[in-house]
Amino acid sequence: MRNVILSCFIVTLFGCSSAGPTQPEAEYAVAMPDQFAAQVALNVMAEGGNAVDAAIAAQFALAVTYPEAGNIGGGGFMTIYMDDATDFLDYREMAPAAASRDMYLDENGDVHPSDSLFGAKASGIPGTVAGMWQAHQKYAKLPWQRLVQPAVTLAQDGFYVPEKLAGRVSRYIQRLEQRGRESNFADYFGAAATPGALFKQPELAATLTRIRDRGQAGFYSGETAAHIVNFMQANGGLISREDLHNYTAKWRTPITFAWRGYEIITSPPPSSGGIAVAQWLGMVDNVVSDNALPAHNSAEYLHLVSEAGKRVFADRAEYLGDPDFFAVPQSQLVDPAYIAKRAAAINLSAISATPDIQPGLYESEDTTHFSIVDKWGNAVANTTTINLSFGAGVVAEGAGFLLNDEMDDFSAKPGVPNFFGAVGGEANAIEPYKRMLSSMTPTIVLDNDEVKLVTGSPGGTTIISSVTLSILNTLLFDLSAEDAVNSPRFHHQLLPKDTIRMHPGFAATTRQALTDMGYTLDERRFGDLHLILQQDGRLSAASEASGRGRAVVEKAQ
Ligand code: GLY
Repeated sequence: MRNVILSCFIVTLFGCSSAGPTQPEAEYAVAMPDQFAAQVALNVMAEGGNAVDAAIAAQFALAVTYPEAGNIGGGGFMTIYMDDATDFLDYREMAPAAASRDMYLDENGDVHPSDSLFGAKASGIPGTVAGMWQAHQKYAKLPWQRLVQPAVTLAQDGFYVPEKLAGRVSRYIQRLEQRGRESNFADYFGAAATPGALFKQPELAATLTRIRDRGQAGFYSGETAAHIVNFMQANGGLISREDLHNYTAKWRTPITFAWRGYEIITSPPPSSGGIAVAQWLGMVDNVVSDNALPAHNSAEYLHLVSEAGKRVFADRAEYLGDPDFFAVPQSQLVDPAYIAKRAAAINLSAISATPDIQPGLYESEDTTHFSIVDKWGNAVANTTTINLSFGAGVVAEGAGFLLNDEMDDFSAKPGVPNFFGAVGGEANAIEPYKRMLSSMTPTIVLDNDEVKLVTGSPGGTTIISSVTLSILNTLLFDLSAEDAVNSPRFHHQLLPKDTIRMHPGFAATTRQALTDMGYTLDERRFGDLHLILQQDGRLSAASEASGRGRAVVEKAQ
């Protein structure tokens, strides 16, 4: 294995400060959604754990300290670069056996969206614990118990509630009240609505203790399984004991492709993200190879990237779903000749008409992400989710964790948008034990077999834009890690028509030029990037300032 990197410097939530380079020394780094998970992961690596050990420990810690999206009740994807080989772990939720294509349609055939977003019926079979167990079996150096224990301690002894978490909890409780939702959320999380309060979660601690002591079986059988199934039966949910028993996390071949001399390793289906990033970067490259690259975040740049994005999302809606159920035409979708043909239709000075963008072949969102590089130069990019903030908004009573509302990521009815405005059809229709299409895109970029960039973000369909732009920001526009995560971003997903969602912070001239072209601008933040970048043999790490993330680079002892 390689020793990556030189001296030590620390990047805080708000930026990097660096000591000058001195001796060549190995470093390790994390970019995490919160300070607790960051510390847990750093401790694991200081003890000799590798990037996967750190990822497992961080995943469980986030299940305690980041309830909006950290979870044991959800699922995710882990992209791995270990001992010079690439790998991808799919621990996405699966539809329960009793799920069916029309389960969210009412008697008139109309989608009843709140059923797929709120309450027990919105949940897919959780995959996180099986995923972490698989990752441990294949790659870990430290004992399982050692990696789960920090989460047990955080749940049992409590942690002091950060202000941003308290704000999100109290706003969520208000929203539940305003919408008249019946939920046990406030019983479990009401105490976390006070900044600085010591917040303990005894039921969750007991569940994590069972997982620590019994591994995967501590979740999918015995007492934890009984709590989940009892809650499902009492609240109209579908997950059965058999479903829990049948859940499997899967090793898949990641999508890998070359881009400007780098090798990009990213998510295959049932994520749409990897194919989308390959198409997006490929289309931009095709257009700018014959034209000068527009200035970073200029109106011309936003227009070019948006036009490519429209084509990406047209294909996503038609062709992408769980590859175990639907023949995803993966190689055709990322074929350079196909991408070039799609790019050729982009007009740099006018918006192409939305109805003309057809799939090309054959003619309070949430989730969370973390990035890790260990002292041997291995890397993990892990994105995990219970779908919307606080998932289905209900806690599996007795087990103490929030259930996911991932069923909304299926297409409940062809052409009817889900929460994220994404449409789909046959490829992503609901079927028993199928995985719902995702946008999670944990991505690692290699430069001559060395880790160059580890990146990812939450944000539903906007994840794909955040990841694509983080690659362009760092590797095309040479922004630092900190500037790359904090630079305003934008997103175009074909529908709504001619609408660019954008962070605040774009120049007034850029906004005016886009409006003059005919775009509607939807100014709302999205995403929370956590990335690690290697430049000139040194690591830098950054977490977006708008979140409560923490990014650190440490010198290996
Ligand atoms: N739940 C968001 C996603 O998986 O894309």
